[in-house]
Parts: sequence; C-alpha cells; structure tokens
Amino acid sequence: MAANFDNSAWFYDRLSRLVYGKALVNSQVYLLNFVPVNSTILIAGGGTGWILDELTKIHPAGLQITYVEISANMLALSKKRTTGQNEVVFINDAVENVKLTAGFDVVITPFLFDNFVNETVDNVFNHLHNLLKPGGLWLNADFQLTGRWWQNVMLKSMFIFFRLLCGIEASKLPAIEKRFNAAGYAVVDDKTFFGDFIVARVYRKLSS
Ligand SMILES: C[S@@+](CC[C@H](N)C(=O)[O-])C[C@H]1O[C@@H](n2cnc3c(N)ncnc32)[C@H](O)[C@@H]1O
Repeated sequence: MAANFDNSAWFYDRLSRLVYGKALVNSQVYLLNFVPVNSTILIAGGGTGWILDELTKIHPAGLQITYVEISANMLALSKKRTTGQNEVVFINDAVENVKLTAGFDVVITPFLFDNFVNETVDNVFNHLHNLLKPGGLWLNADFQLTGRWWQNVMLKSMFIFFRLLCGIEASKLPAIEKRFNAAGYAVVDDKTFFGDFIVARVYRKLSS
C-alpha cells in the first residue's frame, strides 16, 4: 500500500515543528542552496509545499519545477505557495507512476524514502535515477540511525504513528546510501541535523 499523507496534511507541519523544531526545514534549505540557476527540478513528496516558498526565496525566477505528490490534500496546500516567476507543474500521483521526460538537472527527495519498504525504494529510486541527467544533482534528506538510543525510540514512534494514520508501509529505514553507491553517485556535500538523526546529502550522478 502506498503511503498517503492525506489524513495528516492539516497538522503535519505543526507536528513536525513541535517534534523537530526547525531541523526538518533547515536540512532541506541547506540542500536548496545547491540548486543551480535556471534549472529543471523534480520534487517528489514535497508535503504541504513549504519547500516551494523556500526555493523561491533563493530563486525567485528561472526554475522549471515538476512537483509530484501522492496526497491530494498535501498537493492542494502546495498549490497555494509562493512560486514567484518560476514555472511549476503540479502532479497528483505516486512519482514512480508518472511518465516524465528525462533530463532533469535536479531531483529532490525530502523524507520520501523512509516511508517505503525495499521493493518500493528500488522502484522509486530507479525511476528517479532514469529521470536525472548525467551530471545532475540529487538532493536527498532522510533520517538515519547513528547509535543513539533515543533515535530508535523516535523512529519507532514515527513509524507506528504514520502507519496507523497514513498507512505507510515501512517499519525500518531503507539502506538508501547503498543504492546511491551502487548507481555510481558521488557525494558532493552533506550535513547532519538534530543530533545526527537527520542527514541531508547532495549527490552527483556520474553515469547515464
Ligand atoms: C514524510 S512526508 C515529508 C513531507 C515533506 N517533504 C516535508 O519534509 O515536510 C512524505 C511525503 O511524501 C508523499 N509521498 C509518499 N509516497 C509518495 C510517492 N510514491 N510519490 C509522491 N509522493 C509521495 C506523502 O504524501 C508525504 O507528503
């Protein structure tokens, strides 16, 4: 079953800020600073769309953004965001089911993969990999476990909460790093947040 955040759309941002303060926002704003001017961007799982406001603060114009969200409620909120002179195409579907023209300069996956079991991770990863142009940047933010006891507690609580409410399929973090390595990506930069529990990483696609 696909993770659909429809039920949580109206309180998702408030809850995440209550739990994580500005860490989720800061990790994504850090990534957005790597977006080149005038680029074509695919955002998968942008949630309520505040990332569009932040992207527009950095690039008020010149971007061509394709914004894909599986949740209709999340997408409706995203459409109300400030996008300046940037062009945005909104699509309400699972990103792995959307046929798009390959050749994006940037792919952004903000806390998307941690919702999925391995099979879905592979599907989504391969799909997005094929859409990103060689030399393009993949900006990924996710949770990670670095051995502190409270990380496990928080992770388990999140999985239970979002499984009950939104039907997410995951019960452990996928090995996303492994996928990027296997597909021949280079790490350009990375930064951790919230006691290393959150990692934002900038990858460059080397092969075709
Ligand atoms: C954990 S939330 C993160 C939201 C946002 N990136 C943030 O940090 O506030 C994951 C988002 O991905 C969306 N999503 C889940 N599976 C998806 C898929 N296959 N394709 C597109 N969006 C998806 C959910 O509806 C949800 O809005």
